[in-house]
Amino acid sequence: MDQLAPGAETFPADLEAAIRELKEEQNAVLLAHYYQESEVQDLADFVGDSLALAQAATDVERDVIVFCGVHFMAETAKILNPDRKVVIPDLAAGCSLADGCPPDEFQAFIDQHPGAKVLTYINCSADVKAMSDLICTSSNAVKMAQQFEGQPLIVAPDRHLARWIGQQAGRDDLIVWQGACIVHEQFSAKELMKLRVRHPGAEVLAHPECDQAVLDQADLIASTSGIIARAVASPADTLIIATEDGVFHQIEKKLRAEGKKKTLIQAPGLDESCACNRCPFMRLNTLEKLYLCLRDLAPEVTVPEETRVRALAPIQRMLELSA
Ligand code: 13P
Ligand code: SF4
Repeated sequence: MDQLAPGAETFPADLEAAIRELKEEQNAVLLAHYYQESEVQDLADFVGDSLALAQAATDVERDVIVFCGVHFMAETAKILNPDRKVVIPDLAAGCSLADGCPPDEFQAFIDQHPGAKVLTYINCSADVKAMSDLICTSSNAVKMAQQFEGQPLIVAPDRHLARWIGQQAGRDDLIVWQGACIVHEQFSAKELMKLRVRHPGAEVLAHPECDQAVLDQADLIASTSGIIARAVASPADTLIIATEDGVFHQIEKKLRAEGKKKTLIQAPGLDESCACNRCPFMRLNTLEKLYLCLRDLAPEVTVPEETRVRALAPIQRMLELSA
């Protein structure tokens, strides 16, 4: 029996089964980031962090890529697969980092630093990628920065990731675009300190997009996949995790598969009344929108060919260096 939705659409009672069926009918592959809702992660053919998803996007045989993530990720998949149709459940799934780095302003920033190389985090638009010498993700950022030793280097758009790269690569001369992730920047160093006092044996895992005062308290600073792997492998019984809420689903699944039990605690935010560690952009991709997206093969993500070709070079270089 169909359920009546708030809008004009009706949806099958078993939405998950209908999505699985449509995926086959449309010859589609479903790629999802770890920050998607648990049920979306469980429907995906591949779940990963930004680097793993870019790598997975180079190896697609199906006609359609349904990208359950944010817009810049779907754009990257399109840049790598111009002959495939790339769709995203909600075209408004942006990112505070990508949206906070408009191409025209970024071009002006580059022009202010003639001769500087440009390393950009994958969390940016195709237009900004097209202005870059090399792309990085949180999994490979330090290695990518090391490609430019001794050269003036712009790092954009995340100021926290850039600071961490500088520390790891021993550089205090990086030219930094001052963007930030609204999810990772909202963790409270003060509340984290109090939490650690209550859990003295806990290991703290944090994403490099977090503020310095939070990173100072971390036992491990790593990408999303690095955090998931450590949470499962760590000898600690209790883990405090400063990153997006979606990783908890994967950590719990992996712990169950290994017959392990651990206490997982979310790092506290600045505003206790809000579930601010859930990325509002990522969470726009609901099961209902995923169903419609697969049914209608829309909304489609496209990239003008001239931009695509220029953006492809620094992405390919990153993938080669990360192989
Ligand atoms: P990673 O997937 O590289 O850990 O990045 C996290 C993120 O914020 C993606 O938007
Ligand atoms: Fe962007 Fe932060 Fe959301 Fe990732 S978690 S998509 S960096 S706003």
